[in-house]
Parts: sequence; C-alpha cells; structure tokens
Amino acid sequence: MTMRENKAVKIILNYQFSITHMNIKIAYLPGDGVGPEVAGAAKQALEAVGKKYGHTFIFEKALIGAVAIDQAGDPYPLETAKLCEASDAILFGAIGDPKYDNDPSAKVRPEQGLLKMRKDLGLYANVRPIKIFQGLEDQSPLKREIVDGVDMVVVRELIGGAYFGKKGTSEDGSYAYDTIEYTREGIERIVEYAIKLAGKRKKKLTLVDKANVLETSRLWRRTFQEKVSTLEAHSSKLQADFMFVDNASMQLIKRPSSFDVIVTENMFGDILTDEASVIAGSLGMLPSASIGEKTAVYEPIHGSYPKAAGQNTANPIGSIMSVAMMMEYSFDLSEEARAIEEAVQKTIDARGGTKDLFPDNPSSTTAVARSVVENLNLK
Ligand code: IPM
Ligand code: MG
Repeated sequence: MTMRENKAVKIILNYQFSITHMNIKIAYLPGDGVGPEVAGAAKQALEAVGKKYGHTFIFEKALIGAVAIDQAGDPYPLETAKLCEASDAILFGAIGDPKYDNDPSAKVRPEQGLLKMRKDLGLYANVRPIKIFQGLEDQSPLKREIVDGVDMVVVRELIGGAYFGKKGTSEDGSYAYDTIEYTREGIERIVEYAIKLAGKRKKKLTLVDKANVLETSRLWRRTFQEKVSTLEAHSSKLQADFMFVDNASMQLIKRPSSFDVIVTENMFGDILTDEASVIAGSLGMLPSASIGEKTAVYEPIHGSYPKAAGQNTANPIGSIMSVAMMMEYSFDLSEEARAIEEAVQKTIDARGGTKDLFPDNPSSTTAVARSVVENLNLK
C-alpha cells in the first residue's frame, strides 16, 4: 500500500470512528501498591483524550496480583483472564506486596499473576522507550552532557528465559535451580520485531547477550546474525552490533546516547531497563507496551512501591505515557499519543511533578493527573 492509500484508509477509519462512535474496551487492572493511583491517573488521561478526539473508552475493572489472591484466591483469576482476552487493550498498574516478598515459603505469589497474564496473552515483545522530557535533564544523577540526546528503546523478550524455564527446589531446601531456555522461533520473532522498530527509528540495533558464557546467548547471536544478514541483503541501512550484558550495563551509563534499539532476553531486559531509568530522572517516568499474539498490555516499568501506597505521592507519568503508547501501538492513533506527550511536557514545564522529580516543591499524584488532563483539555 502506498503512503497515500494508507492515509486514505486512515481517514475513512477516522470517519467511521466519528460517525459510529466506536467503543474501545479497556481491561482496567490496577493491581497492588501504588498501582491503583498511577493507573487511575492514566485512566483519567485516557478519558480526556476520548473526549477530545471522539473515542469512547469503556473500562472494565478486574483483579490481579496480591489483591486477587486476597479476594479470589488466585493472582490471575479466570474472570480476569477472560476479560483480558475479550478487551481491545489492557491498562495495568503494578504488582507485588511485601507480605509475599518477605515469605520465601509462600506457595502463591502476586508476580505469578503478571507472568501468567504475559504467557497466556503471548506477549513476547516488551517495548520500553527511554527518553528525557525537556527540563528534566538535571534530574538524572548522571551529568547533563551524558544524558543529553538520549532516545532509545529496549525490546525485552518477555515470555522466555529464566522466568519461564524449568525451576525447582530440592526437598530438603538445600538446592534450587532456574533454567534459561530459548527456542530459535522464540528468538526469531522478537528479533524481527526489533529489526522493524529500528528500521523506523535511527536504524541502529544492538543485541545484548552473554554469548561468551551462555549457550542460549550463542543461539541468540546466531539467530540475530542470520536475521540481520537477510535483512541486510535487501536494505543495508540497518547497523547491527552485539554487546555483552556486563559491558552494556556500563555503556548505558557512560554513553547512553549511542544506543537506538536494544534487543535482549527477558532477565537482562528487566535489569537493564531499571538501570536505564535513571537517565530519565526517575523510574516513575518510564512506560511500556507488551505486544504479542493477543491483547496488548500497557504498564509503567516500575513495581508496586508498597511504602508509598495510598500516600498520593507516586509518579503517574510512567503510567500516563503507557496509555500514549496504547494509542499508538494498539489503535494507530499517533495524534492522540502526541497530545498526551505534549500535555505531560506542559505539566513538567510548569514544574508539576511528584517528589521523585521535584523534592523541594512536589505535587501529589492526583495534582499531576489533574494538570495533564487540564493540558489535554486546552485547545
Ligand atoms: C517488570 C517487573 C516484573 C518483572 C516483576 C514484577 C515480576 O520487574 O515488569 O520489570 O520482573 O518482569
Ligand atoms: Mg523490572
């Protein structure tokens, strides 16, 4: 399809949107800790966008995590699973509760709910962009000249590796193991995803692995090389390289602006994205999209931060930016996505931010949400 045809289809679709008032069904899964506060803020932003652009978002709430164990005896109840499958997108808050973290003998854990949701929905690609909002360059503990110009995306494989490999503990509790397992197919689809994404960006793709030690990393590297060379055969514009994860963790802090797209396995991606969040000034800033075979999930990369739960202090921007990603990735509504991003930028311009950003003059979670909604309502 040519660009023009593509645009024409989009205009027709938009037209249908406005005359039929298409309803978009969102599974709303606030979860644990600060999850309800940050996801609540994102829900408000989504409602404001709906009002502005004529989309109707219908939210249906469901249980996941520790609250689901407490109320339904299961961290990912069947009812929640059914709702997720039947929805157009999932807005997820956070998961985790100290009463389980501090009890290694607990048989059921809140995190199992999140992992089961990821697996059931086939969410193999977790997309985590790292960018700094203007005006927050000095919020990072890194020097301004190091964080200036950072604009990268980590594509984390989400349903393989040690998280889902064989695991166990011996009966006497003196031995335990987790296995990293990957298949060629599992690597191929995530690498293909990352290649496409890099092609739409600065055309630089870095595989992060530990191929000097791990068999699975060597399979990643072989598969990556094959995929990149077939692509190179058609268009040689993509610049692909690899890096060992220990070196990558250092380079992320030394010269973060040298990265464009990073593709990596599940646990490396988990660790590197928390590390990379310091570049954006706070872990609370980073959004994510998890894409796969069924409904996509949108969630901030941070956890449930139980100490702050109910205090109205958690940073909602990671969650709000996750619904900006939802607009773009699930519904191809890039104007709506940009409107959310601009509204957040205006809030930051007015020094509206929670205490992780502006400790001397912090705004509450609800005040930040209100400000973003007001900025969306402008014009
Ligand atoms: C994340 C989180 C989860 C993960 C936890 C809560 C299981 O840290 O989404 O990064 O490790 O994937
Ligand atoms: Mg994590």
